[in-house]
Amino acid sequence: MSKLKAVLLVGGLGTRLKPLTDYMPKSIVPLLNRPVLEHTLAYLKHYGVEDVILTLNYLPEMIQAYFGDGKRCGVNLTYCIEKEPLGTAGAVKNAAAYLDSSFYVLNGDLFTDMDLRHMLVFHRARKAAATISLTWVENPSAFGVVETDADRRVKAFIEKPPPGTATTNWINAGTYILEPEVLEHIPDGQPYMFERGLFPALLDMGKPVYGYEYRGYWLDMGRPETYFSLNMDLLNRKINSPLLQEIKDNGIYYGKDVTVHPAAEVKGPVVIGEGSRIGRGVRITGPAVIGRECCLEDGVNLENAVIWDRVSIGAGSRLSHCIIGSDAAIGRNSNIADCVMNAGRTVTLPVPGANGA
Ligand code: GTP
Repeated sequence: MSKLKAVLLVGGLGTRLKPLTDYMPKSIVPLLNRPVLEHTLAYLKHYGVEDVILTLNYLPEMIQAYFGDGKRCGVNLTYCIEKEPLGTAGAVKNAAAYLDSSFYVLNGDLFTDMDLRHMLVFHRARKAAATISLTWVENPSAFGVVETDADRRVKAFIEKPPPGTATTNWINAGTYILEPEVLEHIPDGQPYMFERGLFPALLDMGKPVYGYEYRGYWLDMGRPETYFSLNMDLLNRKINSPLLQEIKDNGIYYGKDVTVHPAAEVKGPVVIGEGSRIGRGVRITGPAVIGRECCLEDGVNLENAVIWDRVSIGAGSRLSHCIIGSDAAIGRNSNIADCVMNAGRTVTLPVPGANGA
């Protein structure tokens, strides 16, 4: 089977993920101490996709500085940078010069282990112009619902149906396979979306658009609470990332040069990044992630937390169900729970709802 390219939509402002994306594009946000995008590239490579086009508009230079030509992630990267956001379909149109055969498109903020090769077999068997991955949710009213017939040909798209009115629970899961000819139907140089623009237009033209149902793990990590859940799910091995093959049940993973005081207690699953120091009498109860060069002073009690890089936590502090952004300095005897702190801002961290996770 020929190798397909993938276009990754990583350009958005990450508005829903704020304050974590105040000074950082969503794709660089760390997941178990590696940028989200690195996990996605490993996922693509796992399914044989090695040519990846990144469509960017928010802080592109940070992404380029980290990923360069992609070689160290084992892929070839091409960057398509938008001066102004072009929307999901407009961003792909902007990359049209690189697309001359069937290709994948992925929303940059989703996490799944869906089998891309199997999706391609489905797409080709039906000679589809576009195949849209679908995932089943309990309450579809916050999503774009996709109605299909018995052969999975799409009959209708319904955006955010009012509660109780949805005719199906299958929603657009944000991974597509497209034939290059559909690009002709996307206007040049102006904002245009797949969900509200291209896909309904293809249906109106009678083009073969199909829905590929997937029942496995799928999560939109675009909100702090779903981002938090994703960290927990990776640690609890509810989902695997090809980048984290070594994670085992309740394992404890130390980066290089981590110092743990003999009188500290660490209960997995826990990942602690390079150069971090864990003081006397500290208790860490997983699932938890601690970034690089963090310092947990004596007697800190931390559970179910995601701590980014260079965070210092003063002696005797207690932290639970929280995300702490890089470079935070938390004073002694602080009590921090159910919140996100980043770049001087603190907001509540809600418990994810049934549809969020
Ligand atoms: P943000 O949280 O602000 O990123 O938007 P969103 O996730 O609510 O947007 P949406 O679900 O519509 O976007 C799906 C994916 O496409 C996300 O990964 C976005 O970052 C990305 N995206 C959205 N708009 C654009 C755009 O104008 N250009 C590019 N290149 N990507 C986009």
